[in-house]
Amino acid sequence: MEELDALNRTSDSLTEKVLSDDALFTKDAFTRSDESDDGIFYATDRFVQHLDSLALETVEKLIADLVIEENPVILDLMASWDSHIPSSLRPERVVGLGLNHSELSKNPALTEWCLHDLNKNPILPFANDTFDVVLNVVSVDYMTKPFDVFREVNRILKPGGLFLVVFSSRMFEQKAVKIWRRSSEEERIILVEEFFSRDGTFTRPQVFESTGKPRPKDDKYAHLGIPSDPIYAVYAEKKGDKRQERPRPTFAEAYQYPPDPEELQRRKEAVKYTLRCPHCEQRLLKWEVPQNPFTQWDVDFMYVCFNDECPYLVQGWEVMKQQGNSGISYRFTYNSYRDQCLSVPVPNLQALKEGIID
Ligand SMILES: C[S@@+](CC[C@H](N)C(=O)[O-])C[C@H]1O[C@@H](n2cnc3c(N)ncnc32)[C@H](O)[C@@H]1O
Repeated sequence: MEELDALNRTSDSLTEKVLSDDALFTKDAFTRSDESDDGIFYATDRFVQHLDSLALETVEKLIADLVIEENPVILDLMASWDSHIPSSLRPERVVGLGLNHSELSKNPALTEWCLHDLNKNPILPFANDTFDVVLNVVSVDYMTKPFDVFREVNRILKPGGLFLVVFSSRMFEQKAVKIWRRSSEEERIILVEEFFSRDGTFTRPQVFESTGKPRPKDDKYAHLGIPSDPIYAVYAEKKGDKRQERPRPTFAEAYQYPPDPEELQRRKEAVKYTLRCPHCEQRLLKWEVPQNPFTQWDVDFMYVCFNDECPYLVQGWEVMKQQGNSGISYRFTYNSYRDQCLSVPVPNLQALKEGIID
């Protein structure tokens, strides 16, 4: 009954208020290039994963680390057929809210689900203080009234309950809001923090980042040499309860790159003896420097790391993208004539390989 009352509630649009009061947001910040009914767009079944397998593993581990409740009542907001609930969790209920009937009905984690268009009606069809955890995975970019939805999530969370918003870099462009499309990945973190902070009902949001990991070898895009899909998460608790403190997720640190700066320096100084890449420790291959009128090299050959999974190369795509140079990375290179460590840019994994003379 209380849930029906919630459905009938009206709310002054917080998002509209923010748009009219705040110079940070242009009036069209939450418009999309496809403004047709979301129900029509999402009526097409999409039994696909929106992330590669390593990124999905990261999402599950993140949920496992942060959900400390024994038998939590969970809402998967903007759910599809996979709610990423780790097997270690024993939820009392998992409710899915989304737009596609067959995806939701085939989601094995859900104990119940409902069809509800958040962009038409951001008021959530649940009573106050219902959930211990609300998850929103790779979907926040489609919210056209995000401030209202975040306020609603706060209302339906129990005090101390967790709202975990996870996102990456892929999206259905036509359905993502303009401000998301125009923002860098760093700016998107700030934007989601802003969604959390505006109402003052969440505790200080925390940020989690996992980027630059090697893409799984069996992934369909592995041949492109691009890193695993980045995972960003912003999460906070509803104010007002003294639950046990949630641990900071620890597993990201388990990925040992870069090694500590002293160790990296030691390895760089040793390259002249080891001829091994200081970043991945694989043997460097002798590489003939292409001689043409445009090359600036004054040497005949150098040593290059041709390990396609070297973290220096894998993270390089992201580093270059942040600097405005999408589609380029670099390989660690050693100039033995000058005892000099440098990097040579590569547009793809095949580049430079024709010069290997080892
Ligand atoms: C990229 S998918 C992500 C699905 C799922 N969270 C996951 O991790 O795989 C985006 C989801 O958001 C849901 N969605 C999009 N627009 C919505 C809206 N206006 N109201 C409710 N759900 C919506 C869609 O049904 C779709 O399942």
